[in-house]
Amino acid sequence: MVIAGDVATGILVVALSAAFLLSSLVSSNSDADALAVFRQSLSDPGGKFDSWDPTLDTPCTWFHITCNQENRVTRVDLGHSNLSGHLVPELGNIEFLQFLELHHNNIQGTIPVELGNLKNLVDLSLNHNSFSGVIPPTLGNLKNLLSLRLNDNHLTGHVPRAILENHNIKVLNVSNNDLSGPIPTTGPFEPFSLNNLEKRD
Ligand SMILES: *[C@@H]1O[C@H](CO)[C@@H](O)[C@H](O)[C@H]1NC(C)=O
Ligand SMILES: *[C@@H]1O[C@H](CO)[C@@H](O)[C@H](O)[C@H]1NC(C)=O
Repeated sequence: MVIAGDVATGILVVALSAAFLLSSLVSSNSDADALAVFRQSLSDPGGKFDSWDPTLDTPCTWFHITCNQENRVTRVDLGHSNLSGHLVPELGNIEFLQFLELHHNNIQGTIPVELGNLKNLVDLSLNHNSFSGVIPPTLGNLKNLLSLRLNDNHLTGHVPRAILENHNIKVLNVSNNDLSGPIPTTGPFEPFSLNNLEKRD
């Protein structure tokens, strides 16, 4: 009985270690999976994605990608990359992403609301593209966001209140869009200097 018990415990330990190993592999592959979908929705005449080999264990050696010590993706640096196409909701699955740099491309379509799931995001730079539609209010929920650059696109609607009321955001540029509605420039919104905000009156 005792021996059988030990064997059972041994099997349990082995099973648990396997599950732990598997879960850490699955999480770093989930970043790679999201990036693979992201890549598929974009046209890349400059070959920026050429080093993105899906057969590698992690995406951490891919060009334009940075990871933390746990092999989770923290940066995507693809500014000035001549990309066109659209963004996918799967970007919102890159749990540890801090910097999403996609400025100065020709990306179209809407900004996925799922970017509001990126709780670790510090800097979102989508400026100088062809994004249309509204600014997702979910971006206002991001407590670590310091810089939000959406200028020089074709965005419409209002700047969501949740963004204006998020005082962690130190740089907010929404200039050169097709936005409407009042944008406060005094009181709590003063850190956003007049130049950063489109004035429509
Ligand atoms: C950008 O891509 C277009 C094709 O979509 C190409 O004609 C142009 O030369 C590219 N520009 C640069 C700077 O790579
Ligand atoms: C905001 O964007 C506008 C338009 O591109 C630019 O002229 C201005 O310098 C930007 N402001 C900041 C603070 O980056």
